Amino acid sequence: MPSLNRRDALRLLALTLVDLGVPGCPGAFAAENAGVPDETRRWWKEAVVYPIYPRSFMDSNGDGIGDLPGIVSRLDYIATLGVDVVWLCPHYPSLNVDNGYDVSDYRAVMPAFGTMADFDCLVSGLQTRGLRLIVDLVVNHTSDRHPWFESSRRSRDDPYRDYYIWRDGIDDGPPNNYPSLFGGPAWRRDDVTGQYYLHLFAPEQPDLNWANPKVRAEVHGIMRLWLDRGVSGFRLDAISFISKQPGLPNLTPDELHDPTRVYAAGPLRDAYLQEMSREVLSRYDTMTVGEAGGVCLTSARQMTDSSRHELDMVFTFALIGLERDGAEAASLLPRIKSIVAERDAAAGANAWVASYLANHDQPRSVSHFGDPDPAWRAASAKVLATLLLTQRATAFVYQGEELGMSNYPFTSIDQIEDVRAKWEWREKVGSGAVPADVEMERLRRTSRDNARTPMQWTSGPNAGFTTGTPWLPVNPNASVVNAADQAVNGDSVLAFYRRLIALRKRHPVLVYGAYSDIDPDHPTVFAYTRSLSASRCLVLMNFSRAPVAFRLPVGLTAVETLLSSLPDEGLSGTGKVVLAGWQSLVLSIAAAG
Ligand code: GLC
Ligand code: CA
Repeated sequence: MPSLNRRDALRLLALTLVDLGVPGCPGAFAAENAGVPDETRRWWKEAVVYPIYPRSFMDSNGDGIGDLPGIVSRLDYIATLGVDVVWLCPHYPSLNVDNGYDVSDYRAVMPAFGTMADFDCLVSGLQTRGLRLIVDLVVNHTSDRHPWFESSRRSRDDPYRDYYIWRDGIDDGPPNNYPSLFGGPAWRRDDVTGQYYLHLFAPEQPDLNWANPKVRAEVHGIMRLWLDRGVSGFRLDAISFISKQPGLPNLTPDELHDPTRVYAAGPLRDAYLQEMSREVLSRYDTMTVGEAGGVCLTSARQMTDSSRHELDMVFTFALIGLERDGAEAASLLPRIKSIVAERDAAAGANAWVASYLANHDQPRSVSHFGDPDPAWRAASAKVLATLLLTQRATAFVYQGEELGMSNYPFTSIDQIEDVRAKWEWREKVGSGAVPADVEMERLRRTSRDNARTPMQWTSGPNAGFTTGTPWLPVNPNASVVNAADQAVNGDSVLAFYRRLIALRKRHPVLVYGAYSDIDPDHPTVFAYTRSLSASRCLVLMNFSRAPVAFRLPVGLTAVETLLSSLPDEGLSGTGKVVLAGWQSLVLSIAAAG
């Protein structure tokens, strides 16, 4: 056997430590150190995260609902993808008005998903494979059936009254003009005491009163419970909304256009996060990613600046919120480019960014940003994968994205389960303000249920997700878009994701390298460099069906193709790279000598 050199030996040691699940050990870094100061390296910056919506991932017992044993049965698949962290969407007991985002007990497991023993099995199964778990912390609100709320509503002097936000109405109406983010007013009058409670989401999701120190202490206790059970951090749901505006004044007509900006700007938000870090997070080796609806980039940087001790990264909404309205994919490119550049610049040296193109609240990325036509679906999914995984950011690959799953062809509101879509339907169609076919067309493009149809494992019945009746229908394209077929096809979207994730691991420049857009005005090609010490990469992505000859800027020479989304690599001569329709390339480059 050939002897190992020092570097390979260290890498082997690092891999072994990862296998052994040694947390926080410097040897467990995925990428080798190359010009990144040790103090700025973090395992969670180098991680690729795989969000799982448990209800839709894998059903183990035929009741049509995905569950924890189902996830455990697919851990080898997840590990083979090369991801490092699983983010589990809420696994707690819930009335499921909003599929787990209305929690009725933060300290247990939803019976439909399994038991605490199943949860422990998931944690240890991941650890054995060198992976970590983060869980969803849903603490802007609870379920209206949480014992705290059931007690709170009983009387005005109940000990739990101040766990929630109760106000008297004004002139037979709600206390102010806040709209719920799901439709209708954000206040509901409760007959028991005649007061109104605040709910920024559904009426079944009353907002907690974070101004009450007892509420914050409860949250800290919940966090400790799961950290002590072996989780490595949290995705913090709707966390930008926890601090409310003093006095809850009415929104101005201008603010009513985007209430999230006001909801996210409570004066104590950052203080609450700093307290959370002091009391809990600083005592563990964790990663945190906050859902930061309504937060601008400056504020996002503040929330994630490492010297402020709040969150490690946040999900901002500018990119995911882009509306395409049926236009050509390339029509979004100028805005995608500027958002990506602004986001990277805003993070600066001390903050960090989360990269995502889909999640359980969004349409499928290939339908949103790519070309879902069967002839172009796989090619465009690979281009989007390239964009997702070559940012200076932690990348989040939502379940099914690695297969290029696309939106569901919904034709009727009866096929839709999502609470938000139903509220919007009632408000728009029910009131006669919007014709049914217009709203249906919008939901087909944007509904959250597009991301929630069952994971497509096989071309067999129910895509191999369940032996029963799935809670949401399986996308009819499962016969051609499924994991089993893609796993044995070297040219599949899945195979490409695996190669791309592995490439990111081998090249720290793709994680830490400085970002520079080299052709911001190109109408169909997104082209940027990433640079770290002597290491430089060029990422080229064609966002259209038409082939294009891309001229390299003077002074840049492509040295080697690190990864191409098509077998035909595209490098031709010097100074020019020919990209086929929807092709992406990652090249190593040098300054021409
Ligand atoms: C977040 C979740 C979403 C949920 C909402 C209310 O946006 O991602 O699924 O409906 O919060 O909890
Ligand atoms: Ca089940």
